[in-house]
Amino acid sequence: MNDRVIPFSDLAPTTAEIRAEVEDGWRRLLDGNAWVGGAPVERFERAFASYCDTAEAVAVANGTDALHLILRALGIGPGDEVLVPANTFIATAEAVVLAGARPRFVDVDPTSLLMTPQGAEAALTPSTAAIVPVHLFGHVADVEGLAEVARRHGLALVEDAAQAQGAERNGVRAGSTGRAAGFSFYPGKNLGAFGDAGAVTTDDAALAATIRSLADHGRAADDKFLHTSVGTNSRLDAVQAVVLSAKLARLDAWTQRRAKIVDAYRERLADLPLRIVEPDVGVDSAWHLLVVRVADRDAVRAGLAERGVLTGIHYPVPCHEQPAFAAWADGPLPCASEAAREILSLPLHPYMDLEDVDVVRDALADVLRRRRGPT
Ligand SMILES: Cc1ncc(COP(=O)(O)O)c(C=O)c1O
Repeated sequence: MNDRVIPFSDLAPTTAEIRAEVEDGWRRLLDGNAWVGGAPVERFERAFASYCDTAEAVAVANGTDALHLILRALGIGPGDEVLVPANTFIATAEAVVLAGARPRFVDVDPTSLLMTPQGAEAALTPSTAAIVPVHLFGHVADVEGLAEVARRHGLALVEDAAQAQGAERNGVRAGSTGRAAGFSFYPGKNLGAFGDAGAVTTDDAALAATIRSLADHGRAADDKFLHTSVGTNSRLDAVQAVVLSAKLARLDAWTQRRAKIVDAYRERLADLPLRIVEPDVGVDSAWHLLVVRVADRDAVRAGLAERGVLTGIHYPVPCHEQPAFAAWADGPLPCASEAAREILSLPLHPYMDLEDVDVVRDALADVLRRRRGPT
């Protein structure tokens, strides 16, 4: 029996890998006076835009602000409806409400658990102004198809790429297809800061300038004391930019390790009565999360915890069933609701040992065998 705990995630090894570089960068900050914005933030913005294949990146305080500010900058607000998938972290829909618009929850594909062009098209109303697919788990949604729906109906496509830094679909980077994309750099994300942080990517220089201004109290670009709109404070701290630049340089290597661990999981879980939620064909996932669907999920999760294997659920309550969104929920969304009862996120991080995958496999096999009883 395994007597070690297999954590769901572990940030310590990647922190250790960048420690010297961060200490060096922070030491230089301590010698100066620039803590908010400044050269480290500008350097990170250039590197992240290049990484995402977009003309611009605007660093902001978190991923929720990134989405909220995109919607505001696009002029989406009261009277508008925005399509969001029902199964996402609530921030996607929260950003819509913060912008003054109404979220309209869309059921997801039963296999990929992502918003599809067909699902979006079926949910359109005369008030729809934007579509916000979420690249959940690091798997990129069908952005080509969704962009086509958006184009035909004159809507904005905004990608929620919070979980998909560096992922690709048919060779196209997550966050580079829509009018703009919102990223989160919450510590647990594949590219995570040492605190809250986020960014917007876009090819639209005017949109980037509007978002930059909104994130800095609506300040005019060329006059510190002139405010052309009522914005907010959503700037990135220089200390976080130092961390993010150090991590960005290593992100592809970490993503490759995630993919290798997923390969090991695929091989070792093949004969168990569960199903990995795989990305669509043509998608190079960022593998933020490795999610399986399994019957009796809560009991399986408890059994794994008893055996020292810690797991997560992303997410146990879909948005249309959340009390906070009761005013906008209209009707059942069966694929999202059914998935929420079955999904289980297994341990995964770039430094996970392949032997730990064996431990997870043995624990799962044991739990599932006991639940089925003797054969
Ligand atoms: C899909 C999704 N959207 C939006 C967010 C919001 O990002 P943040 O927590 O940085 O505000 C997150 C992360 O928490 C997320 O996973």
